[in-house]
Parts: sequence; C-alpha cells; structure tokens
Amino acid sequence: MASGKDLENTAPLNHLAIIMDGNGRWAKQRGLPRIAGHRQGVEAVTTIVDECVRRGIRYLSLFAFSSENWGRPQQEVEALMALLLQFLESQQQKMIDNGIRLKVIGDIARLSASVRTSLADVEARTADGDALTLILALSYGGRDEILRGVGKVVDEVLAGRLELAELNDSYFSSRLDSGSIPDPDLLIRTSGEMRISNFLLWQLAYAELYFTDVLWPDFDTVEMQKALDDYHSRKRRFGLTDDQLAATGTSGQGD
Ligand code: IPE
Ligand code: IPE
Ligand code: MG
Repeated sequence: MASGKDLENTAPLNHLAIIMDGNGRWAKQRGLPRIAGHRQGVEAVTTIVDECVRRGIRYLSLFAFSSENWGRPQQEVEALMALLLQFLESQQQKMIDNGIRLKVIGDIARLSASVRTSLADVEARTADGDALTLILALSYGGRDEILRGVGKVVDEVLAGRLELAELNDSYFSSRLDSGSIPDPDLLIRTSGEMRISNFLLWQLAYAELYFTDVLWPDFDTVEMQKALDDYHSRKRRFGLTDDQLAATGTSGQGD
C-alpha cells in the first residue's frame, strides 16, 4: 500500500535498459588488461539478470556491443565475442530453469557464424521463458536499426502491403528489431558518461535517465536499488500537466 511517504511510482518498472560502460577503466585502475574488465562485467550481468527476475521486471535490455565497437582493436573484439560465447554456454540452462527468454537486437549479419548459431540456439531454447525477456543489443546501433526499419516499411509500401496513411508510431515500432517489446521505462548508464551512444534512439523517447559514476563491473544489487529508488521518485508526465495526470490517475508518483 502506498503511504504518504512512499515513493512508489504508480507506473511500474516494466522494462529496464542499461548501457554497461566502464569495463576498460575498471581494469586500468587495477593495472589489468581491458579484457579482465569485460570478464568482470559479465559477472555483473549475471547479478543484475538475477536481480531483475527476483524483482519481477519483465524486460531487461543490455547494450553489450555497439555498431561502433567494431572499430576497437581486433584482439578486443575477438575477446568480447569469446566472452559472449562463454556466457551463452554457461547461462543457457539457468535461463531455461528461471524462465528467461533471450532476444537479440542489432545487425546480426555482421557477427561470425559461430556467434550467430549460438545466439539462435539459445533464443530457440529459451523461447518459452515468461519471467524475464533478456534483450542483448549486439552489433547494435539505434540509427542502423531505424534505417533497417525504414527499409522494411518502404518494401511493404512498394509491394502494396501497406498504405503510407496507415504508418503510425506503433506500426513503425513493430518494424524495429525490438518489435512488440514495450519501450524502456528507465535507462541506466554507468561510468559517469552522460550520453546515449546510439542506444535505442527511438525506444528511449520517454524513458527516465539515470547516470552513475560507478563502473559497470562494480554495479551490484545495492547500486541497482539506488537507481530504482531514484526512478520511483520521478514524476513521469508524458507531456501532460500535473492536473491532467491527477484526473486520470496516471501520475508517475503515487503520493
Ligand atoms: C563497456 O566498457 C563494454 C563495451 C563497450 C563492450 P568499455 O570497454 O567501453 O569501458 P571503458 O569505457 O573503456 O572504461
Ligand atoms: C557504449 O559504450 C556501448 C556499450 C556499452 C556496448 P562505449 O564505451 O562504446 O561508448 P562511448 O564510445 O563512450 O560513447
Ligand atoms: Mg566505454
């Protein structure tokens, strides 16, 4: 029950998106190679996935590898792909047991055949999971996703399957990689950078943004609690006035 002091947001946190940044700096601070930071970052991923399941969050989108990250040294790219394969291998049984469904977004065609096969395999094996949908953004860029979505819409119009007048917000959303997944409610970015870096440009239109200096490998359940407390203290207006929100009972803060 929401009391006067309760900061519970009436809009539930259904979809959490995270830009997991700072692995390299975490390693550098310890005199370790960057890959050691990425390895520790995977530990944080498993902690936060478990925490989302525990809290009943339905969607978790993780920015794991951007379209721009292809420009990193080949050795680092290869190490990241190897870590991804290890992650899929080691987590898939747990994902099935815990009702976690994997969905990949991004320009998958650029990934190696072995990575694509492994992703498709885990996606198929976890397809019935109904607790948490884990969305991994790989080889992902928001502009690239929008352009590919525009391409699909143009094809449909040219083929006579879609009238331009029918094109609206929700139709276009359905043609993005994220498909029918609802938009994120909260975006967390670690490591002190305050930018979006081409993540979910369309979908983040009305997300609450939370930035923390904590580096991703150090992001744990305590840090997650801080982010959620902050989220629950926000008032989400979606362009309306406070009076309108009070009248419709859709105000962000249940006080
Ligand atoms: C985020 O950490 C992980 C990826 C982008 C793959 P970084 O590797 O960007 O770490 P910093 O920003 O260099 O510290
Ligand atoms: C964003 O981090 C991409 C991921 C977390 C996968 P980057 O480290 O690549 O972003 P910039 O370069 O600092 O903007
Ligand atoms: Mg970075």
